[in-house]
Amino acid sequence: MITDIIAAKDAALADIEAAASLEDIVALTTRYAGKKGELAALKKQLGSLDSIEQKKAAGAAVNDAMSAVDVALDARRAVLSAAALAEQVENERLDLTEFMGAPTRGHAHLATQAWERLEDVFVGLGFRVAEGPEVETDWHNFEALNMPIGHPARGEWDTLFVDHVPPGGEPGSTVLRTHTSPVQIRTMLAEEPPIYIVAPGRVFRRDTPDATHMPVFHQIEGLVIDRNITMADLAGTIDAFTKAYFGPGFNSRLRPSYFPFTEPSAEFDIQRPDGSWIELGGSGMVHPNVLRAGGLDPEEWSGFAFGFGIDRMAIMRHGVADIREMFADDIRFLEQF
Ligand code: DAH
Repeated sequence: MITDIIAAKDAALADIEAAASLEDIVALTTRYAGKKGELAALKKQLGSLDSIEQKKAAGAAVNDAMSAVDVALDARRAVLSAAALAEQVENERLDLTEFMGAPTRGHAHLATQAWERLEDVFVGLGFRVAEGPEVETDWHNFEALNMPIGHPARGEWDTLFVDHVPPGGEPGSTVLRTHTSPVQIRTMLAEEPPIYIVAPGRVFRRDTPDATHMPVFHQIEGLVIDRNITMADLAGTIDAFTKAYFGPGFNSRLRPSYFPFTEPSAEFDIQRPDGSWIELGGSGMVHPNVLRAGGLDPEEWSGFAFGFGIDRMAIMRHGVADIREMFADDIRFLEQF
């Protein structure tokens, strides 16, 4: 009997050592270590032995065999699981080198290129670049721009409100800026005139994306404050800009319009060399209430302002039909510019 037990144990240990997979280990566990396994079957035969001594000796041999099998199964299982894990890790590894190909140089995004070119052109015309925060107070974004609470023109801007309540402020008085115009107010409050600034930046509206709208986009704002500034200065600046940015074959015109922060207000269009007109942005003479909100005396200072979309400018320049293409981050689109 003991010989049988030792033979079964040796066979089990050899099989376990030869196991090639975790499935083999499962099968071998049933075969040797389970309640219906070979060693259990031998254990059941112990009762048929004649003497107590024989039973004791055989019982000890079976127990020894069973624990040796358990230890061997655990050891082999550990080795095979480590190998399986290593293989899985290797298989799931992302080989990013595949996408690198030959090293190529990237370049600035189309929106960044337009932004920087616009800055260059305005700096060339004598403007300085100013900035303001993307998260604004209702006061800077609307009220100081001659749109008090309840002003119907607020409806033109599909505003995104922010939960944050500033110290001493009202709930609902913090917004993601809907335009770059609040930078006008911040600049007037921070600096003494004369002021000649442009303020490019990101703006936010509660808008559904379509071919001509994005909820997040870029604008550039212009502000001039000096003595005796007139509408002729505005028209001359827009025209100088048009020719510097688009080329000498382009013209510009102002069309009467309405904005709460300018009076009079005008939209400006540019004319392509083929004669067609395209609408570019808004402009006008800074409203006296806006000058006052900026801490300036309208009797002493006057100025003009303008604002237009940077992304729209970029797609117009490059003949892109859908503004959403700009922000889809498809490298095949971006590579073209
Ligand atoms: N802030 C306006 C908008 O987002 C654009 C604009 C119009 C800016 C007239 C100006 C301006 O500075 O004078 O639609």
